[in-house]
Amino acid sequence: QLRAGRSRIISLLVLDMANPFFVDVASGAERAAREAGLGVMVCNSAQSPEEEAEYLALFTEQRVRGVLVTPADITGRNLESFRRHGIPFVFVDRVVPSAEGCSVSVDDVIGGTLAVRHLLAHGHRSLAYVSGPMQLAQCHDRRTGALRALREAGLDGDALRHVEVERLDVAAGRDAGARLLGMSPRPTAVFCANDLLALGVLQALYGAGVSVPEEMALVGYDDIEFAAAAAVPLTSVRQPAFRMGRTAAELLIEETDETAYAHRHQRIVLLPELVVRGSSLA
Ligand code: RIB
Repeated sequence: QLRAGRSRIISLLVLDMANPFFVDVASGAERAAREAGLGVMVCNSAQSPEEEAEYLALFTEQRVRGVLVTPADITGRNLESFRRHGIPFVFVDRVVPSAEGCSVSVDDVIGGTLAVRHLLAHGHRSLAYVSGPMQLAQCHDRRTGALRALREAGLDGDALRHVEVERLDVAAGRDAGARLLGMSPRPTAVFCANDLLALGVLQALYGAGVSVPEEMALVGYDDIEFAAAAAVPLTSVRQPAFRMGRTAAELLIEETDETAYAHRHQRIVLLPELVVRGSSLA
């Protein structure tokens, strides 16, 4: 039950509010919160550890009931100081390895392996990985999985060239697409760290008259709603985003209920799945 006088708001601090993946995470969290008589306040760290620190200070000042966070600060420094204020938090989508606390995430190494295994099975041997900043665990782990798939096939890392951009959004995907077009030889298949990047790459290839998948196969990550609706329906590694948000909120609500607040360090890891569509079937 909810003790009178305590805040009935939980905060969700996401990396990029414009990314439909986090809209799905927020929808799941909102469902669980509503069932418990709570509301969700969604804030955006925009991948900035500084902005993340400012929001955590705001949540502390406002004594929110609890915080769901997709950490931008990989050191966990922001969260260590936040923890001292006794407001429960749960990691969602990724974990700061050094920090304690509950988390709900997807095994991104498996996700990267699924994506590249699929491209290798379709005969591709000259691939590229397009990612955001590698200090984000999502980008790092997906590449780790991709390299594992290459090793399984007896190939080394040279078969996967890497294009790193600053942001995981469509505009950065267009820039990455231009860089892929300038490669010599061009890769015949591209694995992108999320669907927004893949949609930007698709847009750049379309503008250059390069056909997908015939001249360049494309695989994204998240399986947001727009993946299936793209000009060439996008093959993507699906993350159960709604379930991630809902499960994380349920964990947090239990943590904030004094009777159950057990300082647990429960790590819930969900599995991704490959959804194959036209962008990778040549
Ligand atoms: O925010 C960047 C990415 O990390 C999202 O697209 C989603 O894949 C998350 O895990």
